Amino acid sequence: MISKKMEQMLNEQYNKEIFSAHLYLSMCSYFLDRDLDGFANYFKVQSQEELMHAEKQFVYLHDVDGKITMQQIDAPPSEFHSTIDCFERTLAHEKEVTKGIYGLVKQALDEGDFATHTFLQWFVTEQVEEEASVKALLMKLKMIGDNTSALYLLNDELLKRTLTVSE
Ligand code: FEO
Repeated sequence: MISKKMEQMLNEQYNKEIFSAHLYLSMCSYFLDRDLDGFANYFKVQSQEELMHAEKQFVYLHDVDGKITMQQIDAPPSEFHSTIDCFERTLAHEKEVTKGIYGLVKQALDEGDFATHTFLQWFVTEQVEEEASVKALLMKLKMIGDNTSALYLLNDELLKRTLTVSE
């Protein structure tokens, strides 16, 4: 049985994951509009990953007799300044998500809720990977600068990204 406080915090996290999915789909749309199909694919897969995170939280909360309550989701930005701008916003957003996950972990520890603590470990690891991969791409983009050929090579590389369903 999960506490009301933990249930409320997991609900907030669930709704943030849905917002994240919309944010990355908005970036996908931005890149499709610029005919950068590889970057668009990267963010489409990113969006699908966020829905997978939300699904994990949905299933877990119901497994421990809690309930997901859908909330109104804010509209994500639809205008971006550049490719680098998208990745900088992504990194900033993921850092906020990490903070949220750490807050959940702390609450689980404070309550002695070891089931939720164990459940959250997957997300702790996932956030390390997400931040690292965005940072690596940001670094590449900064090296690429105004080199259009290099940008298209990276675009082709990102076209290969597929959704990995991890347990
Ligand atoms: Fe669900 Fe990108 O963290």
